[in-house]
Amino acid sequence: MNERLVQLFKQNQGVFLSGEQLSKELNCSRTAVWKHIQSLRKEGFEFEAVPKLGYRLLQVPERIDQASLLARLQTRTLGRTIKLYDEVDSTQNIAHELVRNGAGEGTLVIAEQQTKGRGRMGRNWLSPKGKGIWMSVVLKPEIPLPFTPQLTLLVAVALCRTIRKLTPEVGIKWPNDLLVRGKKISGILLESSAEDERLNYVIVGVGISANLKEEDYPDDLREKATSLLIERGEPIDRAALVCDFLLQLEDLYELYRDQGFAPIRTLWEALTVTLQRKVTIQTAQGIEEGTAVAIDDMGALLVAKPDGRTVTYFSGDVGQ
Ligand code: BTN
Repeated sequence: MNERLVQLFKQNQGVFLSGEQLSKELNCSRTAVWKHIQSLRKEGFEFEAVPKLGYRLLQVPERIDQASLLARLQTRTLGRTIKLYDEVDSTQNIAHELVRNGAGEGTLVIAEQQTKGRGRMGRNWLSPKGKGIWMSVVLKPEIPLPFTPQLTLLVAVALCRTIRKLTPEVGIKWPNDLLVRGKKISGILLESSAEDERLNYVIVGVGISANLKEEDYPDDLREKATSLLIERGEPIDRAALVCDFLLQLEDLYELYRDQGFAPIRTLWEALTVTLQRKVTIQTAQGIEEGTAVAIDDMGALLVAKPDGRTVTYFSGDVGQ
């Protein structure tokens, strides 16, 4: 029904179509027409509504397409193979499947919408249609399996540098959340496949809340999350952002291959909002407290406890 409605508006560009006309064309009630208009608005369509005249289509949602990505892409490897989808359960699932079928390093999976986007620690990841950047990148680094967490920090640095160009207040919360004014704007999910202690591949999942409006968030997230649109007051070009991120990621990935984790660690330290702060850490054992003092060579967080001990956390959910 929504498709038919859009078609009608496209055939009548710039023209007001009354609720009555639309309900006749679509063979439904005027209330149903209004509901469809509302659901299209949620997808990013913009309508002008004028009493007695009806509705006029002002803007269709911007889509990420292959041509706009390829025109902007400056990388050598990352994103050179692009798999673009309208709707998927999770780009992570698609990427795993593609690698199992031979996809190479740098393959980019990107979707306009995810129906089962997943975050860390089994959480759901809100991925409404056309509003954000929901993507997964295949990496095949030749590193020992225990070094994998270093990649999480590497991706966080690449993402933070990219987002910083659009909203300078962004910082990294250990291990891999991107925050603006204490609110989450982007998240990273690394999933790896290993055999006999050997890393086969890593799927780097990145979610960036690009053009979400306040009303796109459910009540429980509104206080905790923000988007580039909310921060900047104007929508951003998602294809340009994807390409910039891939370039940052490729540069850092090459630096890591050549020089190891040390330079990445220094960059991460410069961009983090976690160090030298009082933190709470949610672990499988419960909530623990202390002051985050450093990260180590593997990317683990060192926390000074009130009793004078320093404890190393390899994973966990930090509150600050
Ligand atoms: C987190 O902060 O908890 C991680 C969020 C990761 C979300 C991205 S969106 C693209 C990719 N596909 C998924 O299902 N998740 C990641």
